Amino acid sequence: MSKMEVKTSLLDNMIGVGDMVLLEPLAEESFLENLKKRFDHNEIYTYIGSVVISMNPYRSLPIYSPEKVEEYRNRNFYELSPHIFALADEAYRSLRDQDKDQCILITGESGAGKTEASKLVMSYVAAVCGKGAEVNQVKEQLLQSNPVLEAFGNAKTMRNDNSSRFGKYMDIEFDFKGDPLGGVISNYLLEKSRVVKQPRGERNFHIFYQLLSGAPDDMLKKLNLERDFSKYNYLSLDSATVNGVDDAANFRTVRNAMQIVGFMDDETQSVLEVVSAVLKLGNIEFKPESRVNGLDESRVKDKNELKEICELIGIEQAVLERAFSFRTVEAKQEKVSTTLNVAQAYYARDALAKNLYSRLFSWLVNRINESIKAQTKTRKKVMGVLDIYGFEIFENGDNSFEQFIINYCNEKLQQIFIELTLREEQEEYIREGIEWTHIDYFNNAIICDLIENNTNGILAMLDEECLRPGTVSDETFLEKLNQICAGHEHFESRMSKNSKFLNDHTLPHNCFRIQHYAGKVLYRVEGFVDKNNDLLYRDLSQAMWKASHSLVKSLFPDGNPTKINLKRPPTAGFQFKASVATLMKNLLTKNPNYIRCIKPNDKKATHIFTDSLVCHQVRYLGLMENVRVRRAGYAFRQTYEPCLERYKMLCKQTWPHWRGPAREGVEVLLKDLQIPREEYSYGRSKIFIRNPRTLFHLEDQRKQRLQDLATLIQKIYRGWKCRTRFLLMKRSQVTVAAWYRRYAQQKKYQRIKSSAIVVQSYIRGWKSRKILRELKYQKRCTEAVTTIAAYWHGTQARRELKRLKEEARRKHAVAVIWAYWLGLKVRRDYRKFFRANAGKKIYEFTIQRIMQKYFLELKNKMPSMSPIDKTWPARPYLFLEATHTELRRIFHLWRCKKYRDQFTEQKKAIYDEKLEASEMFKDKKALYPSSVGQPFQGDYLEISKNPKYQKLSTLVEEKIILADIVNKINRANGKGAPRIFLLTKNSFLLADQKSGQIKSSVPLSDLTSASMSAQTDGFFAVRVKEGTPAAAKGDFLLSSDRLIEIVTKLYRTCLSSTKEKINIEISDEFLVQFKQDKVCVKFVQGSPKNGSVAACKRKNNRLLEVAVPSP
Ligand SMILES: Nc1ncnc2c1ncn2[C@@H]1O[C@H](COP(=O)(O)OP(=O)(O)O)[C@@H](O)[C@H]1O
Ligand SMILES: [Mg+2]
Repeated sequence: MSKMEVKTSLLDNMIGVGDMVLLEPLAEESFLENLKKRFDHNEIYTYIGSVVISMNPYRSLPIYSPEKVEEYRNRNFYELSPHIFALADEAYRSLRDQDKDQCILITGESGAGKTEASKLVMSYVAAVCGKGAEVNQVKEQLLQSNPVLEAFGNAKTMRNDNSSRFGKYMDIEFDFKGDPLGGVISNYLLEKSRVVKQPRGERNFHIFYQLLSGAPDDMLKKLNLERDFSKYNYLSLDSATVNGVDDAANFRTVRNAMQIVGFMDDETQSVLEVVSAVLKLGNIEFKPESRVNGLDESRVKDKNELKEICELIGIEQAVLERAFSFRTVEAKQEKVSTTLNVAQAYYARDALAKNLYSRLFSWLVNRINESIKAQTKTRKKVMGVLDIYGFEIFENGDNSFEQFIINYCNEKLQQIFIELTLREEQEEYIREGIEWTHIDYFNNAIICDLIENNTNGILAMLDEECLRPGTVSDETFLEKLNQICAGHEHFESRMSKNSKFLNDHTLPHNCFRIQHYAGKVLYRVEGFVDKNNDLLYRDLSQAMWKASHSLVKSLFPDGNPTKINLKRPPTAGFQFKASVATLMKNLLTKNPNYIRCIKPNDKKATHIFTDSLVCHQVRYLGLMENVRVRRAGYAFRQTYEPCLERYKMLCKQTWPHWRGPAREGVEVLLKDLQIPREEYSYGRSKIFIRNPRTLFHLEDQRKQRLQDLATLIQKIYRGWKCRTRFLLMKRSQVTVAAWYRRYAQQKKYQRIKSSAIVVQSYIRGWKSRKILRELKYQKRCTEAVTTIAAYWHGTQARRELKRLKEEARRKHAVAVIWAYWLGLKVRRDYRKFFRANAGKKIYEFTIQRIMQKYFLELKNKMPSMSPIDKTWPARPYLFLEATHTELRRIFHLWRCKKYRDQFTEQKKAIYDEKLEASEMFKDKKALYPSSVGQPFQGDYLEISKNPKYQKLSTLVEEKIILADIVNKINRANGKGAPRIFLLTKNSFLLADQKSGQIKSSVPLSDLTSASMSAQTDGFFAVRVKEGTPAAAKGDFLLSSDRLIEIVTKLYRTCLSSTKEKINIEISDEFLVQFKQDKVCVKFVQGSPKNGSVAACKRKNNRLLEVAVPSP
């Protein structure tokens, strides 16, 4: 909004006219009046087209604030009231946006405000270009290079308290975004004569005063300086202080700036040391000393000062002293040393001071360049700012070589201005075929030629004069000028052949005058040759090279004796011409922007507008011509393509694409926009627009149209975005709705379905029940019918049955009655035939039938073949009792026979034995039943097989019938000892159980009987026949569980071998013959101590009692 409020045209609220092109009527008076009027209202800037005229206000105006910067930023050049910022903005934007290198040419007299203008341009560009830490540092360094260079290169002059005494051209480099990258400064010809001598009312370079007043005491002491200006010959005293300038504060500013730019502390120190050395050089004085050869020789008056200088820059005092006293000339291997007189010594001293200072200045510029140079190698855009010393004329004709050079430079700049604005413009109209009436203007090329022509230009002649052998002086140079240039219309000299000036007393003899474009300047020829030669005796440069001060040494590379160059160094004039030529070439490649500075008065005073002075400047600056060309011509031109490209959106036919040639497009465009025909012209390749306002009009329309287009794009985009969003939402909504409907319908369907099922089920239930009821009813009906029928049938059946039964009964009764009656009748009839044998026959038949039946039944009921099976079928008829028992007996016998027939011989023997045992013991001895189940094994010990009884088996040759362990009862105590009992065919043996040794062997024929109890015990006695060898030992009382087997086998073996039976005695008391004694063995029933085993106990000598457990 704020932008909308500021005035939008330079035509609004105008004081006078802001653009001289709009001036009516156009005349010098009105031009000046306009300037004055504006100046009086503090409007110091006025345009001529795109050229800015700047009047020096000599006071600070509030028009450079950051707000102003913002106001002018990115605005059209003619949009706001004239300002240097508008020009800077225009230049910066066309550099940034159109990629055109720019140069800003600031011209004007000394003190017209060029340096200020250049600083304003730089600060504006710094303010509007990119931001950021790195960029800011670059900006800061670029801006801070100014105070440093001003301190060393500016001085107070009559015209300007801060006059630049060197030319400066600074290239500021930008990247493609318009951010500053760095810069390069070129300096042109420092006015070094100022170091040793200043015109009245002027000062030496600022740095000397700043150093003396601003340096702290200790620093001054270190530099061997005193604060008092009057102590130094090189400082002019009448204007040592300048009003409104604080040297001390500026010194601090300069040091700070040096630091920012990147000077190291020791570098700053070195610089100040060199400055002090220069200052002190001025205090060296010489005195004459007569030599033997009558020539004067100079001597340093006060060696103290010399010593201090030598200390400062590290040179041996003798070396410097010698350099001030001698001059060595070398030419082709010849070295000639001549002494210097006092005047020459002073000349040498001043030359050294000047050289030292100017070389220091060049070093400073290089050093700053090193700091501010762009770090990247990418393509750069360049904005050059040229602030060169202005045109200078000293009123009293005190103009010397420096002024000549300065004015030459200004002459060249004017040439560029003319080239580009006046000539080039007109030539372009012609080139483009635009109708054009030529405007006359003064072309200063002729003056430039007078000075710089390579064969007969003033500079060339001066060089020639300097190089010429023989005596050369300023006078000879002037003579030469008089000869060569006399005919030149801009050269004036009294001595020239041109008689016109013979009587011109304003033109002294030792002077020449040049009619510069800015006015006539009278140059005093004195010093031209010297200054052009710029000689420094080689002795001095060599002395400096020997310095241990590294900065000083580096400033004098030509003093290196190994690199002596016998060729003369190029003259100052030559160098300057060359560097100006380079500069011009450089400027011509760039788009120029002009700032024409005008000085309103000579007194540095505010509000004073000296008409004559301004008028003079307006004239020589060619401003009127400038306006005229501008007015006659066209304010704006552009090739068709970019013009069409820029404005094509203003016309329907050309937007968005124009297919035909660009020119036709532009024609259609302008016609369509209804721009008055006189406002533009079609050139061959460019469109020319006469009035800036037309251009603004176009620009405004374009801006408006761009906004419209942006709105359109925005609108379409928004529309598109909304539509896409809407469509998406719609799609989504349809999807959602479909899904929802589906879901809802599903739900509804399910509800209806379940309701239908319910209804259906009710109906079906109801129907079923109905059917069921009917069916039940029908069933009941049928059942009832059936029941009734059944009952009915039953009744009928029963009735029928009853009837049939009745009938049957009757029939049966009839039959019975009939049978009875028939039997009765038959018996009655046949009684007489059957009575004799019918009873017998019936009886036999019946018996036969019964017997038949009995046997058949018995056959089926036969018991098993086992002899022990006791079953037998029951007797059916009592009369068969005897038969039945007999049959049973026969069957049993037959069965036993069958059983026996199965036996082998061996088994038979065993059963024989068992039978024998049974005959002997059954029902006689209680031990017998337990032995029935046990088979008689005989050889329990398996003597022949058991290795234990191997010995025993060898002793017994006969077949062993029985072998077992028995207890032999000790008659002494009744206790038993185990013995092996062996029975063979012929004898029986007792052997030790362990050793197998035979204890007793008795032939069977010697045995008489065996005794044992009727109890369950196993005690038995074997008796031996009296009178046999075995009888000596007596009978044997033994005990064994296998008593039955042993005794049976013993009995049977004895029988078979002796054919005699041994006596078997079963009794509960018997006698046993022990040797001579007979002992009674008595068996008693009771419970022996050790349970179920019978125990024998000796009661007395004749009684052994055996306790047998009761059964
Ligand atoms: N735009 C300005 N506003 C205020 N003072 C100015 C302006 N331009 C110049 N001056 C004053 O004029 C003096 C000389 O200006 P300067 O630029 O040094 O002249 P030049 O470089 O042309 O010799 C400055 O020191 C300053 O006081
Ligand atoms: Mg200046």
